[in-house]
Amino acid sequence: MILSIESSCDDSAIALTHTITKELIWHKKISQDKEHARYGGVVPELAARLHTEALPRLLEEIKGYLPDVKAIAVTNRPGLSVTLLEGVVMAKTLAGVLDRPLIGINHLIGHVYSLFIGKEAIFPLSVLLLSGGHSMILEMETPFEARLVATTMDDSFGESFDKVAKMMGLGYPGGPVIEVLARKGDCNAIDLPRPLLRYPGLAFSFSGLKNAVRMALEKRELSDQERADLAASFQVRAIDHVARMMERYLSKKQPTHVAVVGGASANLALRDAIATICNRYHAHLLLAEIAWCSDNAAMIGRAAIPFYEAKKFDSIENLQIFPRSELN
Ligand code: KG4
Ligand code: ZN
Repeated sequence: MILSIESSCDDSAIALTHTITKELIWHKKISQDKEHARYGGVVPELAARLHTEALPRLLEEIKGYLPDVKAIAVTNRPGLSVTLLEGVVMAKTLAGVLDRPLIGINHLIGHVYSLFIGKEAIFPLSVLLLSGGHSMILEMETPFEARLVATTMDDSFGESFDKVAKMMGLGYPGGPVIEVLARKGDCNAIDLPRPLLRYPGLAFSFSGLKNAVRMALEKRELSDQERADLAASFQVRAIDHVARMMERYLSKKQPTHVAVVGGASANLALRDAIATICNRYHAHLLLAEIAWCSDNAAMIGRAAIPFYEAKKFDSIENLQIFPRSELN
């Protein structure tokens, strides 16, 4: 089995994945949402300190499996430098002590493999990745190459939900709370801007929309119903924007398989919007189980299997962290 470690942001997670069946054998995640909630976002130093407590606790629980571990996989890019380091140091130590190969995994590619936990992977695949740090359309022909097709000009999709939630005093992470509040509101009540309406290319932008929400909040005190209307109006514009770009992409490229992954892919209204477009263009839509949308180590372990099979290993001396890396 492969032992995998994820610590790119505010979740400490370890998994064990069977290298042949691709089944998940063990997974546990210790989330830091509560600790960061009072700051309205992730505080890197606090996150790193919490990883130093959580990761050894998780490792302790799987001590009995260590003799059967064939390789160590770890997220080494992109992410917060101080938190990536916690996982990478643990991975290097384990690889050295157990004398096992080491595999550095790109967190974004990890999200793609959240679709294939316990399953065979499907390529070629067009992916809409929406997380707290990234918003992009990417194409994968094989497990080893990903091509960036579109990215955001400013904030990411999840980040805009986090910032709007912070402005509204709703806590962190913002995505789930905005989604719940939006269900009580009227999405046509407040007329917010439609991002990149006249832009002809493929790209995302969420900061103008976020600023329009800020202005609506600053204008006057809103009632509870008006706050719900604002959440609903914001969410519908953000999702419509993503859906419009996906429609443009699908109409040009006509991919057979489309996936939506990343923490924000848990949003049910987003899932529905993309499903409608995929139906229109006869593309199969792949979605991960909700439990695997947010950061976890199971997707990292699953993503490591093709590297393990191809013996594409990293050395203890050379494996580095790349906090700003995108798809390479
Ligand atoms: O992938 P992820 O767990 O961490 C990163 O790699 O960034 O994504 C977390 C992001 C946060 O910004 C969070 O607010 C957003 O995903 N998110 C959502 C929802 N659930 C999580 N955004 C919109 N709607 C949701 N239901
Ligand atoms: Zn993530």
